[in-house]
Amino acid sequence: MEILKTKREIRAVVKKAKESKRRIGFVPTMGYLHKGHLALIQNSMEDGCFTVVSIFVNPLQFGPSEDFQRYPRDIERDISILEKAKVDAVFLPSDDEMYPAGHLTVVSVPNLSGKFEGAIRPGHFTGVCTIVAKLFNIVQPHRAYFGWKDAQQLVVIRRMVKDLDFDISVIGVQTVREPDGLAASSRNVYLSEDQRRRALVLSRALQEIRQMVEYNKIIDAEVLISRGREIIKSEQVELQYLEAVELENFEIIKNIRKNTGIIGAIKVDKVRLIDNIIWD
Ligand code: PAF
Repeated sequence: MEILKTKREIRAVVKKAKESKRRIGFVPTMGYLHKGHLALIQNSMEDGCFTVVSIFVNPLQFGPSEDFQRYPRDIERDISILEKAKVDAVFLPSDDEMYPAGHLTVVSVPNLSGKFEGAIRPGHFTGVCTIVAKLFNIVQPHRAYFGWKDAQQLVVIRRMVKDLDFDISVIGVQTVREPDGLAASSRNVYLSEDQRRRALVLSRALQEIRQMVEYNKIIDAEVLISRGREIIKSEQVELQYLEAVELENFEIIKNIRKNTGIIGAIKVDKVRLIDNIIWD
């Protein structure tokens, strides 16, 4: 596995792989890797791609009062996970490599970026789009893999790719869950035992909604959402949103059908968690 720290180095490695007719699969991450990241990597490898993973905790996507400083980091552990997974190359740029002095340009996807996660975390998706666009330009992959766990991020990136004519297929990979149902996330490490027990209410509510849709054939969003909210209220957590949306534009909908989803966010004390179910 090659470990590259500069844009020049990663570009040279990708160029060589392309010369040997390999397709490039790209998995951008902020590190502290978990099963969800491994599923993205596995998808890229199963697609036969020369697989590049980037690890970069992107300061631009964190708000001033968010967890950038304390975001979990363990590069040595990550590298050993990636080596075992037989990833071909890892891009580990420094802050200066990605945002040298004088860097001004940002990429934003208005409207879509202002809803739900974007309303609670102003500027978040502009930070995400800016770094992802830069990484796409550096790595120039054929395919890029993102988890459905961050559904709005995936949809915003798909919009950006389409609008800016990136010749990249954006592949959405199903959410990976812990045995207790919690969606895999680097931030799960923040949860104490008691907080984790309370956090499970979100996946439980979503699971019940899924049953109501798929077994009881209830598609009325008002009915589904009010049941979900009731379940979440039974636990000591703060519900930030629970809504049924159209996946393409994140507009609130009245009935569940193909290409819709239920998205939710809660706060367990200071820890924010998001999760969803999608019918794509
Ligand atoms: O999902 C993430 O880990 C990040 O938002 C991403 C896509 C790597 C951009 O920093």
